[in-house]
Amino acid sequence: MTHAELLELAHRLARDAAHAIETVRRAGFAIERKGDASPVTAADRMAEGIITEGLLLATPDIPVVGEEAFAEGHAPEVGERFWLVDPLDGTREFAEGRDEYVVCIALIEAGRPVLGVLAAPARGSVHGGIVGQGAWVEEGGARRPIQARRPPAEGLHVLDSRSHRDAAATEAFCRNFIISGTTRMGSALKFAWIAEGLADLMPRLSSGIMEWDTAAGQAVLEAAGGRVVDAAGQKLRYGKPGFRNPGFVAWGRGDVCATDSRLRAAPSDDRVWRVTALLDDPLDAAALLRAGALVAFATETVYGLGADARNGKAVAAIFEAKGRPHFNPLICHFPDAEAAWAEVHADDRARALAAAFWPGPLTLVLPRRADCRIDLLAGAGLDTLAVRVPAHEGALALLRAAATPIAAPSANRSGRVSPTSAAHVLQELSGRIAAILEGGECAVGVESTVLDLAGGGAALLRPGGVPVEAIEAVIGSVGRPLPLRAGAAPTLRSPGMMLSHYAPSLPLRLEAQSVAPDEALLAFGPPLPGAALTYQLSEGRDLREAASRLFAGLRALDQPGLAGIAAMPVPGEELGPAIRDRLARAAEPRK
Ligand code: TXA
Ligand code: MG
Repeated sequence: MTHAELLELAHRLARDAAHAIETVRRAGFAIERKGDASPVTAADRMAEGIITEGLLLATPDIPVVGEEAFAEGHAPEVGERFWLVDPLDGTREFAEGRDEYVVCIALIEAGRPVLGVLAAPARGSVHGGIVGQGAWVEEGGARRPIQARRPPAEGLHVLDSRSHRDAAATEAFCRNFIISGTTRMGSALKFAWIAEGLADLMPRLSSGIMEWDTAAGQAVLEAAGGRVVDAAGQKLRYGKPGFRNPGFVAWGRGDVCATDSRLRAAPSDDRVWRVTALLDDPLDAAALLRAGALVAFATETVYGLGADARNGKAVAAIFEAKGRPHFNPLICHFPDAEAAWAEVHADDRARALAAAFWPGPLTLVLPRRADCRIDLLAGAGLDTLAVRVPAHEGALALLRAAATPIAAPSANRSGRVSPTSAAHVLQELSGRIAAILEGGECAVGVESTVLDLAGGGAALLRPGGVPVEAIEAVIGSVGRPLPLRAGAAPTLRSPGMMLSHYAPSLPLRLEAQSVAPDEALLAFGPPLPGAALTYQLSEGRDLREAASRLFAGLRALDQPGLAGIAAMPVPGEELGPAIRDRLARAAEPRK
């Protein structure tokens, strides 16, 4: 029998069992207690009888493991392939007159649920699915396909159990996410709701849930694009000793990194994303970006880690997600050259190069306009800005929909290679960013060529997708500050060298514990008293806020007539090291 035929068999038997359960419910029933004190009724036993008999008749070579038979000591030897049956999941809800109890039937092959049905007798619904082939719901005789949803921007809807065996752990776990609502349910119908895109997350963090309680739900959910994983992120397997599950979490679509201890649980106004949604609609990605979240997206060169370039906190979050110990200037992406020229001064060479290579893998470093709206942190405080128009339909659609320039370095952790597929980005940043706009494999695979046109000349800062010879064919000779040996890996001009010229002209004093009346104060937290001029990085000692205000602060305090700038201490965690690095460079004696 094919999987489709086996699913129809399970479906028919689940409906027969559902019918029997409703008959028992109308007739009235007694509640008995099993050995483990859990309730059982005539409905459970009747339903299991119908299903087991039907399965053994139709598929005599596939053993059946049923909850009630197992409770009475009948457990067949299981091998590669077996049925797992919970004839009435949610017996307590059934006994208490709620309508969410379900009949669960799943087929296990090689330790994995491959197909399953969940029939809810009192609701008249059946959910079914074959992993890899899709899932459906049948209501009122009509069947329609279902899909799990991607985490919505407004937060996750959580399905929690009614019996609260692990309430504290669940609450601590959920504190890591933006939660839009919680619904309590007492059966495997929770899986079906996530499969149908009605909810996003179901944590069952304590072990001991039985395999027949989860197998059909997992099959339907995986068939609908969701996942059921243990604490290590591994999909639940079946046929384990005693048919007992470890703790697990069921998710809709999206990837999660539940065990990354580097991410702390943040207070409610500054949540750390732990679910990275996989998006295919640029409008969804644009909405997240505009809300200040980080979204990775494909360009023709590599995947970029994008933030709204006008939002300082969002830009600071890029450095945090990448784990960069210092701030270097980021490339700002635009949908077309005109949008770029609104932020930087373009001379004839820049316009000629844009006409020749944009959209495409060329980045131009040009002077910022006086009214440039790009956040200073995106350019690491420089008077210049790196701009480019990527040649990728998804990236361009995102840029147009976001209607704001997008600052984006390559979407890898600091010190690792640039990602060229959404899967690479997940390996690097899963759980650290809000979403990935999927855009296939990157065609070019190396970063854009970075050309500095900000001074009088033209200097190659990074070799990349556009060969320097092609650039020279348009604007004439290009300086190569890097000795580029044949076969040498593309190197970057040292950030120290590149950044040395944007220190303030006033001397800077670090770790200040007091401030003189002729000094300016760069404050972090409650300001030291007595300064001539004070700029607050972050009253509440928020490092992301401080990072986003650092370059603006240095500029604001760099006023004639003052003796120097005193910088208050900044802690060495999260973005602190990058802030301290920048301050230390600014404090170095000038030649
Ligand atoms: O292909 C690419 O360019 C990718 C995709 C995502 O667009 N982006 C990328 O960004 O590689 P990122 O941040 O990893 O590289 C930025 C490069 C660095 O070498 C940086 O030093 C240089 O551009 N850069 C940025 N702004 C600069 C500026 N104002 N002056 C000099 N160099 C700058
Ligand atoms: Mg059960």
